[in-house]
Amino acid sequence: MKVGVLGAGTMGAGIAQVASQNGCEVVLVDLNQDMLTKAENSLDKILVRLVEKGVVSEDEKINIQGRITYSTDTKDFKASNIVIEAIVEKLEVKHAVFANLETIVSDDCILASNTSSLSIASIGSALKNASRVVGIHFFNPAPLMPLVEIIPAVQTSKATLDASKALIDSWGKVTVLCKDTPGFIVNRVARPFYGEALRIYEEGIADFATIDWAMTELGGFRMGPFTLMDYIGNDVNYAVTESVFAAFYYDPRFKPSFTQRRHSEAGYLGRKSGRGYFNYAEGAVQPEPNKDMVVGQQILDRILAMLINEAFDAVFMQVASAEDVDKAMTKGVNYPKGLLVWAEEIGLKKVLSQLETLFTEYGEDRYRPNPLLKRMAK
Ligand code: NAI
Repeated sequence: MKVGVLGAGTMGAGIAQVASQNGCEVVLVDLNQDMLTKAENSLDKILVRLVEKGVVSEDEKINIQGRITYSTDTKDFKASNIVIEAIVEKLEVKHAVFANLETIVSDDCILASNTSSLSIASIGSALKNASRVVGIHFFNPAPLMPLVEIIPAVQTSKATLDASKALIDSWGKVTVLCKDTPGFIVNRVARPFYGEALRIYEEGIADFATIDWAMTELGGFRMGPFTLMDYIGNDVNYAVTESVFAAFYYDPRFKPSFTQRRHSEAGYLGRKSGRGYFNYAEGAVQPEPNKDMVVGQQILDRILAMLINEAFDAVFMQVASAEDVDKAMTKGVNYPKGLLVWAEEIGLKKVLSQLETLFTEYGEDRYRPNPLLKRMAK
């Protein structure tokens, strides 16, 4: 299999590594020679570490490196069976790039995008033969995160979909099938993890440290929402929230938060700027959570109910199967359990009643229980 990867940034470099580790011939193209050099050097370092750990042999290391060609010329994609695009997230740039790719590759070459927020249908519209377009959405870091969302657009042929899913499955990834809708599965279903945590803070129910404590200690999540937002970057996380909100025609369920916006505007971006919700300066004292079990349980129950409601909505609106929604959240963002399985464990009636209480108290559409959850609870 000959795999082209366009864009040698964070995602492209990782995808090229995965493809090569699985025996594919890879051409990695970037406009910027410095990015290619950086990608090559960073792969060398990763492979040295993998050899030291005994994960790959010295021979395999040489083969993995040898299978990747670095180039600044998209014409080198000529013999590719598939090209996966991972360049800047701008629709007009992707349009120009996809139209150009089609003049280079063979008639049956699949053209895939790793976009997080653009519709695959809109990207495919730049192609003469749009039946070859598909979304192949990896998670960062691509070599380590098992989940890949496969997104057929309205134009995608069954042959394109089947071949791209088979290829990514053959790389040992966990693939889930997902409708071409904003945020796909993970970035849609996970919104309340951030949004409801911010809302709880804004209402003065608890501070950042306490909310994080409730979600990690009582809920079993690997990171609390505020630590995670600081890790992702408040600017990046806020931009995703805003784009999902707009893409859903301003559905109040996805409303962004002023707290996050102000943190972002202030330059409190998180780890990368040294300060976010928490202070990452050397020697900074971290705030202690209030370990009140009653408050903690209320926080967990509320955020979890909102996440479960979102998971039900993804199934209800046929975005993905229940099994794939649970797989996506456990393999893409390391949730301790699939949200639908978790809902069954808690009891659907109990989850529904939590949402109904919020909906009655606030009168906000944001808390409306999903019809599928209502039906199933009945
Ligand atoms: P990045 O900024 O690290 O890398 C983008 C690369 O594309 C740069 O090396 C740049 O020189 C190159 N580039 C830009 N325009 C180009 C063109 N016309 N031709 C060739 N190369 C070009 O970006 P990153 O984070 O790797 O994101 C790439 C794509 O992957 C975006 O669509 C993003 O939405 C998506 N994505 C990002 C994730 C993340 O966590 N960073 C996760 C999943 C998807």
